[in-house]
Amino acid sequence: MGNEVVYCSCSILLLLLLVKVGGEVSSNNGVSMEQGQVIPWIKAYSLIKDLDVGNTWPFYFSPIQDPTSLEFFPEDQIRDIPFSSEALPQLLRFFSFSPDSRQAMAMKQTLEFCESEPVVGEVSLCATSFESLLDFARHVFGSDRVTILRSPLLSDSTPLVQNYTVLESKEIWTGKMIPCHYQPYPYAVYHCHFELVSGNKAFIVSLRGENGDTVTPVFICHVNTSSWDANYVGLRALGRKPGESELCHLLPAKDQLLLPK
Ligand SMILES: *[C@@H]1O[C@H](CO)[C@@H](O)[C@H](O)[C@H]1NC(C)=O
Ligand SMILES: *[C@@H]1O[C@H](CO)[C@@H](O)[C@H](O)[C@H]1NC(C)=O
Repeated sequence: MGNEVVYCSCSILLLLLLVKVGGEVSSNNGVSMEQGQVIPWIKAYSLIKDLDVGNTWPFYFSPIQDPTSLEFFPEDQIRDIPFSSEALPQLLRFFSFSPDSRQAMAMKQTLEFCESEPVVGEVSLCATSFESLLDFARHVFGSDRVTILRSPLLSDSTPLVQNYTVLESKEIWTGKMIPCHYQPYPYAVYHCHFELVSGNKAFIVSLRGENGDTVTPVFICHVNTSSWDANYVGLRALGRKPGESELCHLLPAKDQLLLPK
């Protein structure tokens, strides 16, 4: 398991959204997943014990067409571009998207999501630059020293859906963490959120697919779900009520996890 920062391609959540939006690829996450459908044969949510060595489950990993789209633009290139729903007509002209295009719809959704109130018990921010991401982390962690984790890319030969067996599972962190979810937009935007409850955990889990490929994605476990919506798709998938158990999920390929160093 290398310790280099790797780009990965393992979004189960994306599949939920593919179903939800009828084939249109969108990577909204968290809040917007709540109306998503659970595909019964994909294990998108798990308990900590499911990450134990030897367990097998079917997973969906989504390919990433263009990993460069995940990289932030230099701050000075986007500083003067407004980032608000109010400016959408002007932004569509600027990026040359027609108002009824898929891109326009995605921009509208991202802007509205970024302007919505944070979920109760969280603070959040849409970061449009690496600097704003680090500022948020500094504010939450009280330190400049941040580790950024991503899950690795799958090889082109890996089937999108297959059973995976846990070869190794390492708890790497308990405490404050900031998951940052990629949002569809003409330049890189990440929705970063910090749950005020303490004790969330991060794992690196080595999985072997039936075709022999090994992937080592990051898993996040939310330990205290007591303030969550009972209708949250993940809780429903696990058959648990808010607060009854932790909820773990894979960190999708496009996302980042910020931890204090
Ligand atoms: C995974 O394994 C189970 C049990 O062997 C099997 O029923 C299921 O079809 C497999 N799923 C995939 C995607 O191969
Ligand atoms: C879980 O979080 C709630 C607030 O959302 C808090 O009241 C409760 O004490 C926490 N439970 C544990 C076991 O930390």
